[in-house]
Amino acid sequence: MAGEAITTQTLRERKARGARIVALTAYDHLLATLLDAAGVDVILVGDSLGTVVQGHDTTVPVTMDQMIYHTEMVSRATRRALVVGDMPFLSYQLGPEDALRNAGRFLKEGRAGAVKLEGGAPVADTVARLVGAGIPVMGHLGLTPQSIHLFGTYRTRGTDAAEAEGILADARTLEEAGAFALVLEKVPTTLAERVTQSVGIPTIGIGAGPRCDGQVLVTHDLLGLFTRFRPRFVRRYAELGQAIDAAVRRYAEDVRAGSFPGSEESY
Ligand code: KIV
Repeated sequence: MAGEAITTQTLRERKARGARIVALTAYDHLLATLLDAAGVDVILVGDSLGTVVQGHDTTVPVTMDQMIYHTEMVSRATRRALVVGDMPFLSYQLGPEDALRNAGRFLKEGRAGAVKLEGGAPVADTVARLVGAGIPVMGHLGLTPQSIHLFGTYRTRGTDAAEAEGILADARTLEEAGAFALVLEKVPTTLAERVTQSVGIPTIGIGAGPRCDGQVLVTHDLLGLFTRFRPRFVRRYAELGQAIDAAVRRYAEDVRAGSFPGSEESY
């Protein structure tokens, strides 16, 4: 799918006219090429690659160098989608100047169009600093996986009134700080709807119900490639893990039986 490159301004206009935003994750050139051709608007190079491709239990170990390596591959494959690089744990928490240096690497070396970082009021100054330096920032509220060691669980966030009000306040704070969009992860539908109506910037939900301005999923979940765990909010559109298993077993059988390669596959 060709067409005009998606910018942060495009996403704002989408919200204004009620047209939903389609976002997915990619960590490499091949998958990014497929997603871009299929018309995905936003490709997030998520630090979920820590669990999905590196096999860690959490996203915490992911480093800046690893994120830049993956982001560059994705950006090189992408013609239309907005590429957003996910700032890994401790790449923005040490203060606005350190965050600016790291966020700048996503644009200069990773060729991303924007960065994403987790958290609300505590990162507002950092968001403002990055935006002031010309770096578009996507916020991330609700379940923030980089804080897993603080919370100890991946439970739904904003289920009690105090936590819900906190998320709403954080959303407004991030908008004021200049964020161009917000990921809302694993919060009740009603809260996601309130946030969506309270801010002028688009909300992109993951486990946040249907009333957000857009949706994002981890592509490896959607394709049935990552099966170690499956959150309720994942809808499987394919079972590629099973397809790969069946294909590899057939190949192994053919090799063992001596029926691969055949004459047509030989020189
Ligand atoms: O790391 C990631 O892939 C994400 C999405 C799940 C929003 O942050």
